[in-house]
Amino acid sequence: IVAFFQPKPLRGRRVLITAGPTFEAIDPVRGITNLSSGKMGFALARAAREAGAEVTLVAGPVSQATPRGVRRIDVRSAVQMRDAVLPLAPEHDVFIATAAVADWRPATAAEHKLKKDGSGQCPALSFVENPDILAGVARLPKAPYCVGFAAESEKLAEHARAKRERKGVPLLVANLGPATFGQDDNAVLLVDAAGERPLPEDGRRTDKLSLARLLVHEIANRLDA
Ligand code: CTP
Ligand code: CA
Repeated sequence: IVAFFQPKPLRGRRVLITAGPTFEAIDPVRGITNLSSGKMGFALARAAREAGAEVTLVAGPVSQATPRGVRRIDVRSAVQMRDAVLPLAPEHDVFIATAAVADWRPATAAEHKLKKDGSGQCPALSFVENPDILAGVARLPKAPYCVGFAAESEKLAEHARAKRERKGVPLLVANLGPATFGQDDNAVLLVDAAGERPLPEDGRRTDKLSLARLLVHEIANRLDA
């Protein structure tokens, strides 16, 4: 009922969002993942839907309820996420990459569960780099408007500016990683070609749904500009 009275700045727009961690298999029962909860991506999906968008949410393994009216596609690994996202991207106007995609995966996943052999020897893992989903979408000939997220642990603005250029995206949302993973609230830095600006404007932490609504309006303004 509340949503009915809200302005619809994304009416007629299609928004694709990645959310949550990815899980990279070591063997059929084990893997490597990270502490992303998916809260920010799910809040953005809800906020974009409230703003009138058609929303597709590609989610890694999370325990979050699907926001009403949102199309959800569940994946596990970074490669699966890439395979889901790339074909969908050209039919969307906006791509928001909130997922904490694993940077590396075990080079091979064992077909059967690894067993202790009694000698005390531990298995050695070697890794290969995962595809960069955001950079891949940004490079598409029919690329949607791309929004990246960056969790840093230091030198926030500096790392964020460099990352925005490296990924070739118009807008990057930066935050201090340890302060956001799994938390209910956050404050971010918006980095675009014009420079950087805190969101909320006063720099104080706010709940992720309020932050998502602010961000949706920032994105809508940029689409209309
Ligand atoms: N991202 C992605 N695919 C990857 C890695 C990251 O789509 N394989 C996206 C994330 O969803 C996020 C943005 O890229 O929107 C930045 O992710 P981040 O981990 O901060 O950047 P990286 O390029 O992986 O650099 P690093 O982790 O080394 O800081
Ligand atoms: Ca990374």
